Amino acid sequence: MRGEGRTRAYSEEALSEIRARTDIVEVVSGYVQLKQSGNTYKGLCPFHTEKTPSFTVSREKQLFYCFGCGAGGDVFSFVMKIENMGFRDAARMLAERAGVALVEDESPQAKAVREKRRRLYDCMETACRYYQSVFANSKEAQRARSYVKQRGLSEDTVKRFRLGYAPNAWDSTLLALQSKGFSHEELVSAGLIISSKSGKGYYDRFRGRVMFPITDVSGKVIGFGGRVLDGSEPKYLNSPETQLFLKGRTVYGLAVAKDSIRRKSKAVIVEGYTDAIMCHQFGFTNVVATLGTALTKEQAETVSRYASEVIIAYDADSAGEAATLRGMDILQQVGASVKVAVLPVGEDPDSILRKHGREAWAKVLEDAKPLIDYKLYLIVSRTDIFKLDERVRAAKEAARVLAGVESDIERMEYAEKAARMLNVSYDAMLGDINRLAKRSTSRRARSQGREAQDRFEVRRYTSFKDDIAKSNEVSRVLKAERLLLRLMAENKRVFEMAREKLNLDELSDERHIALARAIQASQDVHNESAGSGSSASERIMELIDDREALEYAAGILIGEEQKLPDDLTKAADDCIKVILKYKLAVRIRQIEKELASLSDTGEMQKSRELLQELGYLKKRISEELEPFRGTI
Ligand code: GTP
Ligand code: MN
Repeated sequence: MRGEGRTRAYSEEALSEIRARTDIVEVVSGYVQLKQSGNTYKGLCPFHTEKTPSFTVSREKQLFYCFGCGAGGDVFSFVMKIENMGFRDAARMLAERAGVALVEDESPQAKAVREKRRRLYDCMETACRYYQSVFANSKEAQRARSYVKQRGLSEDTVKRFRLGYAPNAWDSTLLALQSKGFSHEELVSAGLIISSKSGKGYYDRFRGRVMFPITDVSGKVIGFGGRVLDGSEPKYLNSPETQLFLKGRTVYGLAVAKDSIRRKSKAVIVEGYTDAIMCHQFGFTNVVATLGTALTKEQAETVSRYASEVIIAYDADSAGEAATLRGMDILQQVGASVKVAVLPVGEDPDSILRKHGREAWAKVLEDAKPLIDYKLYLIVSRTDIFKLDERVRAAKEAARVLAGVESDIERMEYAEKAARMLNVSYDAMLGDINRLAKRSTSRRARSQGREAQDRFEVRRYTSFKDDIAKSNEVSRVLKAERLLLRLMAENKRVFEMAREKLNLDELSDERHIALARAIQASQDVHNESAGSGSSASERIMELIDDREALEYAAGILIGEEQKLPDDLTKAADDCIKVILKYKLAVRIRQIEKELASLSDTGEMQKSRELLQELGYLKKRISEELEPFRGTI
């Protein structure tokens, strides 16, 4: 998002005006309950699920950072992330809030692209109104009105979801929108008309269908689903992908459901338009739909931004089960706690509500099973438990599932449950699980190691606890680099000192290098135009382009305890020594390796050089760095 993000669409003056008039603490408070704690504010992170607050906002630095999930940045990043917006929209929103007039500083091409999008939105909105008015007023739509009524949808619901009707003709939509000033080209790119194969004419995409407008999170119409009134095929016809309508990112009903989802911190995902709509009609307002396709990562991320718990309620056929399992894994990956509502075979949420009412559906949701229980349930439900070989096969399958459970206690409890359900030996079951668990843990550790390690490191660093003696060389250096970067950002003298003694392009982590460069650049800029109304850390953040590097930098700059060491220069000097010593040690190891490989090939000259360097390095370490007993 950021790559597209910080291209300068607005004048620098306007942006720094926004910064000067905006307090990140106030903006964040609109979404998160913050409590003051020393110099910072803390609350529950809106970007991941947590019970104790690790989401930190600094008024002084105008930055936020979550020590749990690593999300961080300035006020623009916060709005972009929580509203799921690009930089441009976030800037516009903050400008409005701060009462700053935004002068657009746009290239003609960029302007043209934006104007085109605006027209497309306009076109979709106009079409939506047209379909609504046909539905409400035309004689032909009588069939649609009775159909909707017979499906039990109330007038209120029709209004809220803006249902409409597309006349059963080849050019009704075309003519209606043309008369409002939209060109063929625009209507084609909006997906409303199709150019005929002969290439000469155009015809309406949606004919004789009940229209379900699909909107983005803010409620702007970006596509349609059209349902036939009889049994003909296809039952639903959807808009094609357009510049506005990206199917993999769209969640049906989210604009209507998002407040309720946020309030309850719980979302329900169903398969169909009518399922979602009927849920809302019965007062279940936190329901959205995926429109028949499998849940994508983007959809999962979007939903989990509003809710920490997500219930999947797909049809109980095999396609639904497969989609459910994939969806659960995806939701879990994005950090939501997932449950599955098991629907009676042959029913969908719409039919349950209409046949059995509110309570029946509430019960289905209440009985939703956590991921592991659901997987066990599926395994057992597919097993003929009167046959031994079936039970053994199922037990093995269950063991594979349970091996993924991280907590030992939970794993044992599930093992007992599974053994009971399948009537097999508990000891054998647990043995299988633990054998598999060992293997998968080491695999997981390898793939997740780095990220987890980094997060862990950040947290440790920021707590300034001196357990460093125990930590290994690498993490010690990383920690020293982080502290040094923070000190460099705080203090110009420290920055100069670090630049003199170290090659900042050789720090051990790409993100450290990016931050060092940004600090350098911010000082250059600052020297030119002092006092622009933004804090030093804000100026630094502006200069980092990579999103991951930016989040990481926020964590470094904010620190968890705002208190810095008393003697900044001394602390920086300690850091520099740790880093230097590590660099030298790495070089020494490298030389020793080279020497070992040289010894039998007899390259005397080379060996001598290396030995000489080795001697020099070792001397340097013992003279300059060895006696050092720093606090880092
Ligand atoms: P109703 O029959 O109106 O209750 O629809 P439903 O939502 O119960 O339909 P179903 O369970 O068959 O399908 C679930 C969702 O899949 C629908 O809401 C559509 O989004 C999508 N879908 C179903 N049929 C089609 C189709 O023929 N084409 C496309 N593109 N999508 C479909
Ligand atoms: Mn249905």
